Amino acid sequence: MNNLKFKNLFEPIQAGNALFRNRIFASPEGFYNVGGDNLPNLQEVAFFERKALGGAASVCVGDCIVDSPTGTHYPYLIRMDDPKTLPGLSSVAAGINRHGAVAAAELSHSGMYARYVADPDGVSYGPDAAKEIEARRGETQKGTLYGPVAIENGKYGRVEEMPEELILHIIDKYGKAAAWAKRCGFGMVTVHGGHGWLLAQFMSPTVNTRTDRWGGTFANRMRFTLAVIESVRKHVGPKFPIEIRVSGSECDPAGYDIGEGVKIAKALDGKVDILHVSAGNHEFDHTFIITHPSMFLPDGSNVQFAAEIKKHVSTPVATVGGLTDPAMMDEIIASGKADIVELGRQTIADPDLPLKARLGKEDDVNKCMRCCMCFSGSGNHRVLQCSTNPAIGREIEERFAFPAWDKKKVLVIGGGIGGMQAALTAEKNGHDVTLCEKTGSLGGVLLCERKVPFKLKLEEYLRRQARFVESANIDVRLNTEVTPEYADSLKPDVIIAALGARPAKPPIPGIDGPNVIGAEELYVAPEKAGENVVILGGGLVGLELGIFMALDGRRIIVLEMMDELNLDPFGMHTMAIMNEMARLGIDLRLSTKALDITENSIVTEGPYGREELPADTVVYATGQIPLRDDAIALSGVAPEFYQIGDCLAPRNILAATKEAYAIAHDIGRRLV
Ligand SMILES: Cc1cc2nc3c(=O)[nH]c(=O)nc-3n(C[C@H](O)[C@H](O)[C@H](O)COP(=O)(O)O)c2cc1C
Repeated sequence: MNNLKFKNLFEPIQAGNALFRNRIFASPEGFYNVGGDNLPNLQEVAFFERKALGGAASVCVGDCIVDSPTGTHYPYLIRMDDPKTLPGLSSVAAGINRHGAVAAAELSHSGMYARYVADPDGVSYGPDAAKEIEARRGETQKGTLYGPVAIENGKYGRVEEMPEELILHIIDKYGKAAAWAKRCGFGMVTVHGGHGWLLAQFMSPTVNTRTDRWGGTFANRMRFTLAVIESVRKHVGPKFPIEIRVSGSECDPAGYDIGEGVKIAKALDGKVDILHVSAGNHEFDHTFIITHPSMFLPDGSNVQFAAEIKKHVSTPVATVGGLTDPAMMDEIIASGKADIVELGRQTIADPDLPLKARLGKEDDVNKCMRCCMCFSGSGNHRVLQCSTNPAIGREIEERFAFPAWDKKKVLVIGGGIGGMQAALTAEKNGHDVTLCEKTGSLGGVLLCERKVPFKLKLEEYLRRQARFVESANIDVRLNTEVTPEYADSLKPDVIIAALGARPAKPPIPGIDGPNVIGAEELYVAPEKAGENVVILGGGLVGLELGIFMALDGRRIIVLEMMDELNLDPFGMHTMAIMNEMARLGIDLRLSTKALDITENSIVTEGPYGREELPADTVVYATGQIPLRDDAIALSGVAPEFYQIGDCLAPRNILAATKEAYAIAHDIGRRLV
């Protein structure tokens, strides 16, 4: 009998000698917050253990490098050829296994993209890293990069053709790395054959033009990958599960398509235990945002590749990419598109998805909205983070947290993102919480984006948080403007001011004209825009608004006064925005000032001098002014006072939730 709502998702599956308790795997994720010794640490154990605790059937530790002298693309990757990794890796595996999940180690080698080999001193990994390395190419390439063929001017410097003896050495290192994973207690290895890394480079018809037995024909191009699998099998034994991750399609004219993907899968069929079908190539912006589907793509945008491959193979097939909804996952399994669903960012946004889905509490799942702050956290700081799950990175404190010892009366003012998070965290810690919001609903300013098709998960998040607040033991007072007197009448021990900000209106002649509107107002009423829309301000708000309006058929020009955009330097979302703007033909003008707004035009001054541009609608998206004074007026009312979110300084969702969580968590834990 199966009484579960998502029956297919919770059907156990066997691969090799391992039994997986359900069909939800946590896909490979690298963890880079390690110390200078490069060894797995307690935080890493906690990060992966948390996913297993949440009910995933398998949890994969990403980016374990099989041959560190030639294969390392970031400095802080696990080196499978370093015996000092034994205790750390064993702890990671044990942390996963003890919660009933199968621990998997991803075996990888980055080949011609081994950026760290080319430049071991490089510290920047964002779009600028490529620029920096480009600028320093030749001068600073320190190590030798190897790929299937020699390339004079590769992305990270000169690439040498991998000699046969090195090919054989690396094949052997894959086997040894697999044996090491098994020794450390992992129950599966995932061979990384996708995303443009070494195995994919050898399989690629466009990259691998070698003329010896390792390149050229399909059989020759598969030789390396098949030899790697054979070597792994030899080292782990006949029953130990081997998963291989491949790109079903590289989604790029310069890469291979699904036809080739099917041929690759057929060549691997029966030789591995799971065929894990991803997509794209890690090294190009326009395919990186397919590998990690951006918020502009629909959920499950890469399932098609797994579904096609599944028609041609008998090995169980896994799919991955932009999966957040248990009902969709269940349907994927039920309809035979794949046998397993793998979740990446969703396990960061909510590691408890499997448990919640099993309990039929799918509405409580915090769905990943693909803002990609997790990626930029690891890219910029080597720290994993999540905009809507502030407990990420604090797994140890969370796991062993007990309610605060000193119960306080907490007044939270403002029911936006920060205010709701602060109220929820304070209530969870046992405090007596009142939340006042001056409007008639919880959610705050970002509710204005609810009509934006690529922001639907943000709206869902805001509504879910509001529902949690309403069902928690929190005294919610809507339509309540909090004056110092009102606050005083409640006699709080702690005030958390999360008052927000108001839009800044730039002092340009004509700014009060009938064709001028603020970004927030236009988000709410997009029908107010004419055909030609000029947006002032190339920040995230302006650019996303431009995309929203362009999707709605408007012609868009974005004006930015600075000579470059102030976006996230390791911005996967930045890449996605740029890609979308190019696709939609949005005209972005940097170093351009608005001088005058008339009824149907705007006069600008930029690199090409003075111009008059048609503008049926001019939108200002030129920042926010924090409601600091209103907050400061409340600061003396209670013994403890905290100012968070936009009323301190304009900030993003990540910063707002993180600080709200941290501040509310620490209330009642102080020693004085
Ligand atoms: C922070 C982060 C780290 C990742 N690290 C790896 C990795 O080490 N190896 C790998 O094959 N994929 C890695 N991925 C990709 C994921 O496994 C997954 O394929 C991708 O995120 C798409 O799935 P999603 O839409 O569910 O996130 C990483 C993804 C994220 C967000």
